[in-house]
Amino acid sequence: MPAPRIIRMAMLGFLASAMLATSTFAEPQQGEQIVLSSTEHHAPGAGAQGFSALDTEKIRETEEKYVFETEVSKIMKIIINSLYKNRDIFLRELISNASDALDKIRFMSLTDSASMSTNSNLNISITADPVARTLTITDSGVGMTRQQLKDNLGTIAKSGTSEFLSKMEESKKDDVSLIGQFGVGFYSVFLVADRVTVASKSNDDPAQHVWVSDAVNDFTIAEDPRGNTLGRGSQITLHLKEDAVEFLEPSNVESLISKYSEFINFPIFLWKGHNETIISEKSETLESNDDVEEEEIDSEKTEPEELTEEVWEWSQINTQKPIWTRSPKDITEEEYVEFYKTFTKSNDGDPIAWSHFKGEGDVDFRSIMYIPPRPDANFYQSLASATNNVKLFIKRVFITDDVAGDFFPRWLSFLKAIVDAEDLPLNVSRETLQQHKTLKMISKRLVKKALDMFAQLAKNDEKKYSEFISHYGVALKYGAIESQSHRKKVASLLRFRSSQNAQDAVVGLDHYIERMKPDQKHIFYASGMTIEEIEQSPFLERLVADGYEVLYFVDPIDEMLMQNMPGYDGKSFSNIAKGDIKIGDDSDEAKAEHKELEETFKPLQNWLKSTLSEYIDKVTISKRLATSPMAIVTPEFGLTGHMEKLLAAQGMNAAQKEDALYKFMASQKKTLEVNPKHPIIKALLDQVESGEPDEDITQLVTVLYETTSIRSGFQVKDLRGFTQRIEEVVGKGVGAEVAKAPTLKKEEEEEEEEEPIVPEDLFVGGHDEL
Ligand SMILES: *[C@@H]1O[C@H](CO)[C@@H](O)[C@H](O)[C@H]1NC(C)=O
Ligand SMILES: *[C@@H]1O[C@H](CO)[C@@H](O)[C@H](O)[C@H]1NC(C)=O
Ligand SMILES: *[C@@H]1O[C@H](CO)[C@@H](O)[C@H](O)[C@H]1NC(C)=O
Ligand SMILES: *[C@@H]1O[C@H](CO)[C@@H](O)[C@H](O)[C@H]1NC(C)=O
Repeated sequence: MPAPRIIRMAMLGFLASAMLATSTFAEPQQGEQIVLSSTEHHAPGAGAQGFSALDTEKIRETEEKYVFETEVSKIMKIIINSLYKNRDIFLRELISNASDALDKIRFMSLTDSASMSTNSNLNISITADPVARTLTITDSGVGMTRQQLKDNLGTIAKSGTSEFLSKMEESKKDDVSLIGQFGVGFYSVFLVADRVTVASKSNDDPAQHVWVSDAVNDFTIAEDPRGNTLGRGSQITLHLKEDAVEFLEPSNVESLISKYSEFINFPIFLWKGHNETIISEKSETLESNDDVEEEEIDSEKTEPEELTEEVWEWSQINTQKPIWTRSPKDITEEEYVEFYKTFTKSNDGDPIAWSHFKGEGDVDFRSIMYIPPRPDANFYQSLASATNNVKLFIKRVFITDDVAGDFFPRWLSFLKAIVDAEDLPLNVSRETLQQHKTLKMISKRLVKKALDMFAQLAKNDEKKYSEFISHYGVALKYGAIESQSHRKKVASLLRFRSSQNAQDAVVGLDHYIERMKPDQKHIFYASGMTIEEIEQSPFLERLVADGYEVLYFVDPIDEMLMQNMPGYDGKSFSNIAKGDIKIGDDSDEAKAEHKELEETFKPLQNWLKSTLSEYIDKVTISKRLATSPMAIVTPEFGLTGHMEKLLAAQGMNAAQKEDALYKFMASQKKTLEVNPKHPIIKALLDQVESGEPDEDITQLVTVLYETTSIRSGFQVKDLRGFTQRIEEVVGKGVGAEVAKAPTLKKEEEEEEEEEPIVPEDLFVGGHDEL
């Protein structure tokens, strides 16, 4: 029989919609504090703030009227007119206020345990009533007495209010962050509400009171006719403006709570509904009563009714205690990684490392800092400007992410961190924050902890550390340059390539020093554009052959680093392309032997010096060459070939070229070192000794000088002359007639030997001892 079934379906449908209708408006079962009106008890609108008509009448009879203090009025006007675009901040302000009130009572209860007994469940709960068009936020915090309601919400402007007013005017009136900083956030409720009711019960007042205002000029306070419904705490009911009904939608409210208050330290409950599927059992009952239509019954049996029921209940939005307040040993790696992804809103992989710690003693704070998997795309371009990489919380309330530069120096600004400080006032403004000495103290700790974190990583995880170095090595070098106080520590974290491992930057300075040869006094380094360029350098030969390790500098910043960091751990750095290099045997015998070589080669030295006088002013017998005939060495304060190239690449302007330091460095003539063991050099000596070498030999020596200069890292100055000379040599070799190439013009007369003047600022960067 189909009829009963149809009726049943219709009934179920009716039931479902009835359930839906009642459940939406059902009162949350949360004790007396719930104010949701229901259609049965009150006419829509009349009992809007949870008061019956009679209650409202009573309030009207007993209320006292107060006028807002002038500055408070001004603040309300400014907030209402200027923050309209950001009006959803009202919820953040109310939650943070509620959280404060909860913090206060929790703090009080530490010394007065009875104070908690009036309401021991510390939470924040939020409900929306679409019929009355109200949004209600309730906390079981410290609450306010009648006098406090009057003072806090209207008649006493806080210190800093006028500062707030002028700041708002300066900031072109839309700086949302200001209102939280100045503790005037409460008034943002009038962005969305045209009428606000605050019921509050404090332990210090026997009665619960109600504050009501429609933000015009005045507000009223009356004893709450409902009696003490809160036990303790405050309940703010917003009568939403017509255009603010979006805040009645629990899903909107939920996403706002998540956005602003995920890290509030007290549970935040939202009254919200969800659909649940219920399997109806009724078909079985049918079967026993009616066995006529077997088939149909069977199919009903196997296909029970599926009903959707809307269930309304309290749902906690901020489910976790803020991760940084938990003990590190209770937090899994996955949780740290998830938290990193959530708070940085990034999805580019797992952080390389993190550090979770607590600052105690002179400054109380907690922090988790992360090394991101890679720097932000523009990190190295914008090293000069700090990025928003630190989220500052004060007592679990999010304050700002706009103080990054104050926490980390720019070279560390690749780190992402949460800082939750206990010692800062919540109303602190950005400007006052920057002057706050607590901030400086926190910053100091953070930098130290960051360096510890790097050191730990270096010690414990070689692979991750080299990943870290590959992304952030250059930032650390900036650190070693910029930070006087941390230079030694940062320097110890640097990793370089070297003659022992040219492929990977894995050699630390401590490591290098450990394996220095006993007679070695300096840390040797060679710089170049590429590893290949360095490896073919004539300077390297002898050092490497003799077993010295040479660091390879291929980052442009390395030269700058050397200007600023002349030594490490008592050892100075020595550029193997510069000055006199002190290696090997310095016994008297060795010295005598060298002196003898100098004597022997004197004629060649003199001839070379006069032939190549345009480029060099000194010819010496080399100790550093093994297989090359000669090399060009830069004097201690001159520009190496690598530096010349770097400067050329940067494109120096006229003013920079006029710079005294540059002129001085550029004017330093090079030294030509010859290898006394090399057959070419020996043969040349013979030539010179048997009379002035002819023009052909001069030409060949010029070519040799030019190729040497290339290998020594310099650019050939006279490229045209150079190619012509090569062609002439090749021409002679193959027996072809080639036009005569120009010879190097010798200087007509010896220029006056000028003693170069060392500019005072040559030593910028500080040769401070490490
Ligand atoms: C909001 O917080 C301020 C600052 O803590 C306080 O003075 C005010 O009374 C609070 N307002 C409410 C409604 O709780
Ligand atoms: C929140 O705290 C109140 C007391 O203020 C309590 O009655 C209520 O049950 C709590 N809510 C939840 C969902 O735990
Ligand atoms: C912040 O509040 C403290 C007291 O809580 C007060 O001394 C200070 O002046 C306030 N600062 C500002 C900027 O309002
Ligand atoms: C439950 O389902 C009904 C019908 O699909 C829908 O109108 C309603 O919005 C849903 N309720 C919730 C809380 O998702």
